[in-house]
Amino acid sequence: MPYKLLFVCLGNICRSPSAENIMNHLIDQAGLSESILCDSAGTSSYHIGSPPDQRMNAAAIAKLGIQLCGRARQIEKSDFQDFDMILAMDRDNYDGILALDPTGKDHDKVRLMCEFCTQHTLKEVPDPYYGGVEGFNQVIDLLVDACEGLLQHVTNQQLRA
Ligand code: 4NP
Repeated sequence: MPYKLLFVCLGNICRSPSAENIMNHLIDQAGLSESILCDSAGTSSYHIGSPPDQRMNAAAIAKLGIQLCGRARQIEKSDFQDFDMILAMDRDNYDGILALDPTGKDHDKVRLMCEFCTQHTLKEVPDPYYGGVEGFNQVIDLLVDACEGLLQHVTNQQLRA
């Protein structure tokens, strides 16, 4: 059974699709695409069905040469059963995710993405939506760091279990 990761932000058009696509890129490079699967979702319904934000896609292409794929969807309760780990981009997202699990049964599956950063000290991936180009570039830098740490974590802790 592959290990399944779900990346979650507010709109599922900027941060979480970037995390999903960057992680898939690292997983492909590591030859682990049969072992680790990724998806992303938003806590809100604002952008359901929309492709990734063009500004976010432009930053991913400029910095990494990665084209962002996917369509926005909203997180649902069944995601707690379907995924092994749920990565929240910020604390609001974290709280929104836990609100879908009132018993707290799957609390341990939910983590803040920046926990896995080794180069950056920010604790949250800032929402770039209402800001300028620098904010989108910062999202990419943070997510590359976090995704590298997360891949290490998953390969060390889970695949050897
Ligand atoms: P994301 O960014 O949560 O990283 O996808 C946002 C996208 C849309 C909105 C806010 C943040 N919005 O308010 O519509």
